[in-house]
Amino acid sequence: MRVSAFEALLTDTGREVLAEVDPEAAARDPLTAASRLRQDPRVAALALGLPVSELVNALMTQVALRERGRAKFGDLARRMFFTPQGLEQATRRAVAGHRAERMAGFASRLTGGACAGDLCCGIGADLLALAGRGVAVEGVDADPLTAAVARANIGALGLDGLARVREGDVTETARGRFPLLFCDPARRGGRGRVFDPTAYSPPWDAAVDLARGAEAACLKAAPGIPHEALPEDASAEWISVDGELKEATLWFGALADGCRRRATVLHEREGLLAREGAEAHLDADPEAGPAPVTPARRYLYDPDPAVVRSHLVAEAAARVDGSLLDERIAYFTADKAEISPLWRVLEIVEVMPFSLKRLRAAIRGLNAGTVTIKKRGSAVDTEKLRRDLRASGTEAVTVVLTRIGERPFSLLCREVGAPASA
Ligand SMILES: C[S@@+](CC[C@H](N)C(=O)[O-])C[C@H]1O[C@@H](n2cnc3c(N)ncnc32)[C@H](O)[C@@H]1O
Repeated sequence: MRVSAFEALLTDTGREVLAEVDPEAAARDPLTAASRLRQDPRVAALALGLPVSELVNALMTQVALRERGRAKFGDLARRMFFTPQGLEQATRRAVAGHRAERMAGFASRLTGGACAGDLCCGIGADLLALAGRGVAVEGVDADPLTAAVARANIGALGLDGLARVREGDVTETARGRFPLLFCDPARRGGRGRVFDPTAYSPPWDAAVDLARGAEAACLKAAPGIPHEALPEDASAEWISVDGELKEATLWFGALADGCRRRATVLHEREGLLAREGAEAHLDADPEAGPAPVTPARRYLYDPDPAVVRSHLVAEAAARVDGSLLDERIAYFTADKAEISPLWRVLEIVEVMPFSLKRLRAAIRGLNAGTVTIKKRGSAVDTEKLRRDLRASGTEAVTVVLTRIGERPFSLLCREVGAPASA
């Protein structure tokens, strides 16, 4: 999409036409929706030198992206603007809000018209979360269309008084230019969670240097960032949403606290984005030794991936006097069941060395029909196992596949409680 086509969408007529497209009908029958737009005299008038097909394409793309954007931004997405890549890379609203809250605490101490910098602002998800909390912020992005989209989002959310965006290369930002800084480098090549600092733009070292030049700063990184790559002076926070690990956040300067590693577990309830959902934290305890290892006890705990990735399983186990089944596997076991967003708790019905025959018999014995299969440290193909189990009863059970020592084990369990929602 060219900037000129995008800007045509921002005119009064452009917004009017965009608002009239029914997203569901357009998704069901895009050819008819596009043809209707092509015949709309307002679209031809808007095109002003652009091919009408380009404008129609820009409209159809925006309608589709707004629908897709609801997964990250809820109903707000219907007022926002996106590019496909910008939406893909944007921080979901719950996470941006969580981070922005902490940054806003520091920003309230800024004086003399100082503003925060969002370097690599993309379509503005983090910038909007900051401005939405009253923080004056300047966004910078190298891509002209992305910067235009971020600007449009500031207007769409009525935040013009607090936020602005400029096009530019953040590596040219003077060190210390912003007392409070956020940077979310682009990870090129769509390589997902792979942490490869050379694939970041700006390069990771440059982003860390910018962060160190600010009084307080926050860098977003891939959740797979190796612990050895964590800067000594930063505190790291791994964040998951609804049981899925989303990112690592590094805090610098006044925003780095004594805690080197933290797991934060967020929940978005029933599409309710913002921060209404459950939220829980677990901090590294420098005094904590390794968790003890024992045979299975009454309950099995399956920690959230943020707890596992932040290497805080021992701290989690300590909360319930728990112990590991195997020192290399992140499940832990305890005598009591404590419900928390930090883990799922299962009551252990039977522990057995892995054998399809034994497992099938046990499942039949429990009259199980709904079988949830979880695994850590097991190479078993869970879909094939589900078919092979041929469960046909009425009860629900969870089968946990793991290994204890060198032997594969299965644990037959019943769910005690899903993560608490408050
Ligand atoms: C991961 S996205 C930012 C997403 C944003 N935090 C959000 O939630 O919407 C990274 C952005 O960095 C921009 N970028 C990459 N290298 C840059 C550079 N050297 N200077 C400025 N922007 C850059 C890209 O254009 C991209 O929009």
